[in-house]
Amino acid sequence: MKQDRFSRKSFLQKGFRTGAIVSLAPLVSEIFAYGEEDAVSFRENPILYAEKIGLKRPIEKIILTATLAPNSHNTQPWKIKIESDSSFLLYGDPKRQLLSIDPVNRQFYHTQGCFLELAKLAADSLMFDAKINLFPKGIDSVSKTGSSPVAEFRISPKDLCVHDFLFPSLPKRQMNRSVYSGDWITKKETDKLLHLTNASFLDIRFVLGKKEIESFLPTLQNSFAQETNLTAQNEVTRVWFRKSKEEIYSKRDGLTLEGNGISGIKGWAAKKFFLDLSYDGWHSEASKAASIDLFKNQSNSSKGLVFFVTKGKDDAKEWVKTGMDFMRFTLACAGENIAFHTMNQALEDYPESLVFHEEIKSLLGLKGTERVQLLGRLGRSSYKYDSTRRGLEEILI
Ligand SMILES: Cc1cc2nc3c(=O)[nH]c(=O)nc-3n(C[C@H](O)[C@H](O)[C@H](O)COP(=O)(O)O)c2cc1C
Repeated sequence: MKQDRFSRKSFLQKGFRTGAIVSLAPLVSEIFAYGEEDAVSFRENPILYAEKIGLKRPIEKIILTATLAPNSHNTQPWKIKIESDSSFLLYGDPKRQLLSIDPVNRQFYHTQGCFLELAKLAADSLMFDAKINLFPKGIDSVSKTGSSPVAEFRISPKDLCVHDFLFPSLPKRQMNRSVYSGDWITKKETDKLLHLTNASFLDIRFVLGKKEIESFLPTLQNSFAQETNLTAQNEVTRVWFRKSKEEIYSKRDGLTLEGNGISGIKGWAAKKFFLDLSYDGWHSEASKAASIDLFKNQSNSSKGLVFFVTKGKDDAKEWVKTGMDFMRFTLACAGENIAFHTMNQALEDYPESLVFHEEIKSLLGLKGTERVQLLGRLGRSSYKYDSTRRGLEEILI
């Protein structure tokens, strides 16, 4: 047997010639272990990356690209059934719900919306129009999550060569949790963000100026402290936290210190001396105090605040639509080089948290059925971290 029959080059050449690479894509990604470079090059050009790992069908490229959507705790709770070359069904992954902090699945469905909007933008960039049919078989109860599709997604070739201009900002989009510096965000900038987002569902409101921002900080910080001090809620973050490089790049999901804006020497020292993912270590007073302190520093550096408001039934369909506009907003920020960090401890649905939503509502002067779905801080920062995503083989059913 000749040695070169097993060389990487000949293996790939044969694969491309026979088309076998398409079906061997999962195998190829296992052979060439995923690492930091993949996380970077995937975000830099997801379509090219998809092609590089052997995905040929547009529908697969669209799905892989859409996994770059922001998503709660980087759980990536998506399951996809490809129906044909032009359609797929999106399901929520019940194994990736965060019920202690999200008992009604609000953020779970926001996350589905983020995926769908990014899939639509990816399709657009590949010259396809997309039609999204939400909940074609109705909405599952929380205990039956994942039984029925969240959406049917269908593509058809574009008639007009008109593109949505948000997609090119995808490589720069990230949740930027670093401490911000520089000038306050201006009304002119937020007007531009609104224009670029072109929201079809959400009422997006801004709070600008030092004094105005400061009036919200106690609610944001108290809600974060409460969540950290409640064991069941604090446990969610421990379970989804990844510490070592090996764990980050093998599991390819979850939260990291680097994603929290701490890298370099500081990150190294924090990992070596402080960050303890054992149950007792994570829930110790010292660890909780450090986490609350970090959040204070992050939120105190806000140069603007943004609130995503709805008025209506406040049901799963509206949460998905919220996620769709939210996705667009995050891309608008990326395009304008405005750092954005969503932080929703004050808006969660577990009983002890409800009081904070009332506080936010009253600070914003909202009435009746108006509901703040998500909120975030805006600012300036050059911090960059490309969080990981799992491969297609993990989400296809
Ligand atoms: C619905 C939703 C809620 C989120 N809530 C928070 C939050 O409260 N705090 C936070 O730091 N990040 C939050 N995130 C951001 C995610 O953790 C982030 O998108 C994920 O870790 C992937 O990282 P990336 O956006 O940089 O790709 C949220 C994202 C979504 C879609």
